[in-house]
Amino acid sequence: MKLPNYNDAKNREKVDVKYLDINIKYDAIYQGKKYFLRTYGCQMNVHDSEQIKAYMQMLGMTNVEKLEEADVVILNTCAIRENAHDKVFGYLGRCKHLKKEKPNLIIAITGCMAGQEDVIEDIQKNHKYVDIIVGTNNLYDLPKLLIEKSSKQNIEVYSNSDIVPENINYERDSKICAWVNIMYGCDKFCTYCIVPFTRGRERSRKMEEVLEECKCLVDNNYQEITLLGQNVNAYGNDLHLDYDFADLLENVAKLGIPRLRFVTSHPWNFTDKMIDVIAKYDNIMPYIHLPIQSGSDKILKKMNRRYTAKEYMDLFNKMKEKIPNVAITTDIIVGFPGETEEDFQKTIDMVNFCKYDGAYTFIYSERKGTASSYMKDDVTSEEKEERLHRLNEVVNKYSKESNMKLLNKIVKVLVIGKSVKDDNKVYGYTDTMKLVNIDASDDVIGKIVDVKITDAKSFSIDGVITEK
Ligand code: SAH
Ligand code: SF4
Ligand code: F3S
Repeated sequence: MKLPNYNDAKNREKVDVKYLDINIKYDAIYQGKKYFLRTYGCQMNVHDSEQIKAYMQMLGMTNVEKLEEADVVILNTCAIRENAHDKVFGYLGRCKHLKKEKPNLIIAITGCMAGQEDVIEDIQKNHKYVDIIVGTNNLYDLPKLLIEKSSKQNIEVYSNSDIVPENINYERDSKICAWVNIMYGCDKFCTYCIVPFTRGRERSRKMEEVLEECKCLVDNNYQEITLLGQNVNAYGNDLHLDYDFADLLENVAKLGIPRLRFVTSHPWNFTDKMIDVIAKYDNIMPYIHLPIQSGSDKILKKMNRRYTAKEYMDLFNKMKEKIPNVAITTDIIVGFPGETEEDFQKTIDMVNFCKYDGAYTFIYSERKGTASSYMKDDVTSEEKEERLHRLNEVVNKYSKESNMKLLNKIVKVLVIGKSVKDDNKVYGYTDTMKLVNIDASDDVIGKIVDVKITDAKSFSIDGVITEK
């Protein structure tokens, strides 16, 4: 049993990482059993779930879509905001109910909530029916804990891990697009953010390991790779080698994958070298997610974001200037402690300046253990709601404008799958990451096709294929 610890996570030291080969074979001791997996949160979790699926398969289990049919339930959780937390606990209620009918049901919690000290205390005290809890830094322990399963609640969370797991098996959701972790954790400690606690310290994979994984995906005909990290600019900082994210990006691009993307990049330390590489390679998609969080220098400072509004604008201009046709999206938090109407107006000014192609907007949510949880939150919830509403109106106006610009244009779309709403349609993404619904049959799935945009609204774009 190893419990998560905020102090361990906060007071971590920079030590050299250890590489751990986790390509272990497990006996199929759960042969014939069924597992149900629910994934919350960001791409990291979606990709971690592909790892969980591989473990379950190795243990002999098959996946079911209905909770009621499961022998093992895994909730891969997110802790980013209070509503993420509430959703998981809501679902746990259903699991608890099911366990009354099926006493042998195993309930496991993975993901970021496993790294929250206060949440684990609550689960230990009030949710004893949860059998297994595994942290994000040692997800590879999940099969071991399932094999060892005892009647006691077993918690294994390493808040301060120095391990970089290698040779991970993934049961990938798609044969077209793949996620590739380039690093784990985050050391930025933005004051509102729980991620540095739940995902541990920044640890980079070695370039040759990343390249090998990407090469294998290219050989298997994948069309798109997205390099994953909480802050990809920091890639390599811990390796003491003479390469950085720009070098890695360039080397992956050279492998010849048709489309290459990355998330997320922090505006701080986004180097000219990175911009030049993105501009140079046609297969690096002209799309950058560049979270601003706030347009007010006072709030940015309180958030520990390490850039000013002016620095952000300079970077933004440079990207627009150097990368042809680049689309830029962002994340914004309203109602951070101490945010006045004047500060909020600066955020609106920033949106008006950048005219973002899209933005994810959030109301500040206090997370226990973070630095901002000790700040006085003097913005009322009515004010927060009202600011979010006003912000969304401006944000939506620009994303609509950005969509409208595509009308009657011919764009390249990578077709991902059948449309859920309409059987006669497929959907895919432009190089700038815009979702397009296309009148076409299944045979174009997995291909990059020329599409003429016939309709563009705020939240949807339609098109027809001009050439296969
Ligand atoms: N590593 C990524 C962000 C991951 S979290 C990055 O730095 O860009 C995704 C977004 O959630 C953040 O950009 C932020 O806008 C939002 N977020 C994080 N913590 C939050 C909190 N406590 N309250 C509200 N929004 C939050
Ligand atoms: Fe959180 Fe900031 Fe790290 Fe992003 S960079 S994960 S917002 S601490
Ligand atoms: Fe949530 Fe963890 Fe991602 S908190 S947003 S799942 S890194």
